[in-house]
Amino acid sequence: MTLKDKWILITGASKGLGREMAILLARAGANLILTARTAELLEELKAGIVAGGSECLAIAGDLRDNSVLESVKSLCIEKELDILVNNAGVVDITKLEGVSDERVDEVIELNLTIPIKLTKGVIEMFKKRKSGVIVNVNSAGGKKPVPDHTIYCASKYGFNGFAETLKLEIKGFGIRIISVCPGKMATELFNAADRPMDTKAFIDPREVAEGVLYMLEMSSKCSHAELNVDRMS
Ligand SMILES: NC(=O)c1ccc[n+]([C@@H]2O[C@H](COP(=O)([O-])OP(=O)(O)OC[C@H]3O[C@@H](n4cnc5c(N)ncnc54)[C@H](OP(=O)(O)O)[C@@H]3O)[C@@H](O)[C@H]2O)c1
Repeated sequence: MTLKDKWILITGASKGLGREMAILLARAGANLILTARTAELLEELKAGIVAGGSECLAIAGDLRDNSVLESVKSLCIEKELDILVNNAGVVDITKLEGVSDERVDEVIELNLTIPIKLTKGVIEMFKKRKSGVIVNVNSAGGKKPVPDHTIYCASKYGFNGFAETLKLEIKGFGIRIISVCPGKMATELFNAADRPMDTKAFIDPREVAEGVLYMLEMSSKCSHAELNVDRMS
């Protein structure tokens, strides 16, 4: 499948894996809708993408804010979105008794509820058109338990359950779900959770983004796909 002139939404595009995917997908000819909270980073990324010849729209805001989420969903419909990339996420590394209820809500909402609502926002259009791709950035922690990542793993296991069950609903509609399950990547995810780590041995997010590009360009004969990549221990 060619990505030329396809409209793609990437959540969490300001940094990390989202930013790497935005750069590679734009280079492949796609038009992008980018979201994240940090307006300056989004605008800088957008300027580079537009200079490269693609169309790019940026919505800066917290996806947990309903008005931001609704604006993103409306734009997806207006642009007749081709590919939804559910990437924005947060990690929490705390023993259960130490996690505040607010933090539980934040992790579950961003990693699970918002991807469900965004998918719900485009699925009818995808079904009517009989085409569309959903890229879900999950995690190795969505498939195996990771110590002290209890809420994070709960959100990612839930996200995986959502995707696997949705596959049954969309059978025969020409819609593909691509699941991306990396191990630890060298991004700012752990800083954002106040758990800075030495990321030297972590996976370069560019390599994961290259895997996503490869899977998106597979022919329409290919159904759902999954990218599992853990780091060498
Ligand atoms: N890094 C890893 O080791 C690793 C491993 C497996 C899976 N993953 C998954 O990969 C995905 C991307 O993470 P990353 O490693 O690239 O982390 P990252 O560098 O921290 O990027 C996270 C992105 O999400 C955005 N974001 C965070 N909270 C948001 C909110 N409330 N509303 C809107 N946007 C928000 C951030 O932008 P702003 O701060 O500008 O809002 C940023 O663009 C996540 O789903 C994560 O679970 C990461």
